[in-house]
Amino acid sequence: MLTIRNLSKTYDNGVQALKSVSLDIEAGLFGLLGPNGAGKSSLMRTIATLQQPSHGQISFDNKDIIKNPNIVRSCLGYLPQEFGVYPKVSCYDLLDHLALLKGITDKSQRKSQIDNLLHQTNLYDVRKKDVSSYSGGMRQRFGIAQALLGSPQLIIVDEPTAGLDPQERNRFHNLLCEISENIVVILSTHIVEDVSQLCPNMAIIIDGEIQLQGKPAQLIENIEGTIWSKMINKDQLTHYKKQFNVISDRLIIGKTQISVQSDFQPEIGFEPVQANLEDVYFSTLNQVSQMKKDQVKPSWAVGGSHA
Ligand SMILES: Nc1ncnc2c1ncn2[C@@H]1O[C@H](COP(=O)(O)OP(=O)(O)OP(=O)(O)O)[C@@H](O)[C@H]1O
Ligand SMILES: [Mg+2]
Repeated sequence: MLTIRNLSKTYDNGVQALKSVSLDIEAGLFGLLGPNGAGKSSLMRTIATLQQPSHGQISFDNKDIIKNPNIVRSCLGYLPQEFGVYPKVSCYDLLDHLALLKGITDKSQRKSQIDNLLHQTNLYDVRKKDVSSYSGGMRQRFGIAQALLGSPQLIIVDEPTAGLDPQERNRFHNLLCEISENIVVILSTHIVEDVSQLCPNMAIIIDGEIQLQGKPAQLIENIEGTIWSKMINKDQLTHYKKQFNVISDRLIIGKTQISVQSDFQPEIGFEPVQANLEDVYFSTLNQVSQMKKDQVKPSWAVGGSHA
């Protein structure tokens, strides 16, 4: 339904935020996972036609949306990463105003849709309060309510769960699942759990490039049997990082647990562990940072020995 081909974006300051991104996104929830600065918001804004790409094509239902942005604007719901300043207007009035802008001119139609959305996002009881007085979680729910106005065919939510408490996050996950049955919903996040619990399809973006895409279960299957874990002392970490392909480390009650990716047991004391999506993500991040390190080797370390 949404096809992205060789999409690149270089900002005026010379930052290349997207490097020849190609993706095919079908109906359902699609997770775009990547670290800070990876280019997620740049991609989301470009799909939402809020900015032009430097190169490349995007089509929605076989229609070119870069040449004809109105095609997507008329059926788009967008929740930006940052909303800016919230006006001192009640939630209901703001939704009513936004619904008008989306072209829902019939007053009773607007009312029934807004009431439905308020119930769906659990905001009905606070609909008369100013959005500017809402907590972070309530604002996020307002954000999704406004994104759902006008029955959009394409929904883009940019890091929607950052700052939500676990209960709010669950509720938000359920809502996204419900709405994504027949339409394209793209969720960008740096939280692996958001993707593993929700998305039938996903991609990992790092430094503006798509590094991996597919179904989470398949991506996990691809690395199954290669993840090993060991508890070490904190001061041994540098040594292990030099010796082995350490993809992640975490402190657990004063000890450090490391995960190493290897086709065989790295050394005695390593236990095999069942791979999960976090391992897929960390393994991909690790590969990219290794590649970068190799590229920036000092000149004396490249191409032969020196006496
Ligand atoms: N309007 C802009 N002008 C110049 N550079 C920008 C602009 N927007 C983003 N960038 C740069 O482009 C790169 C990608 O940024 P982007 O915001 O798309 O990443 P992100 O994956 O959404 O990050 P985060 O997880 O922190 O939200 C970064 O290096 C950022 O500094
Ligand atoms: Mg972002």
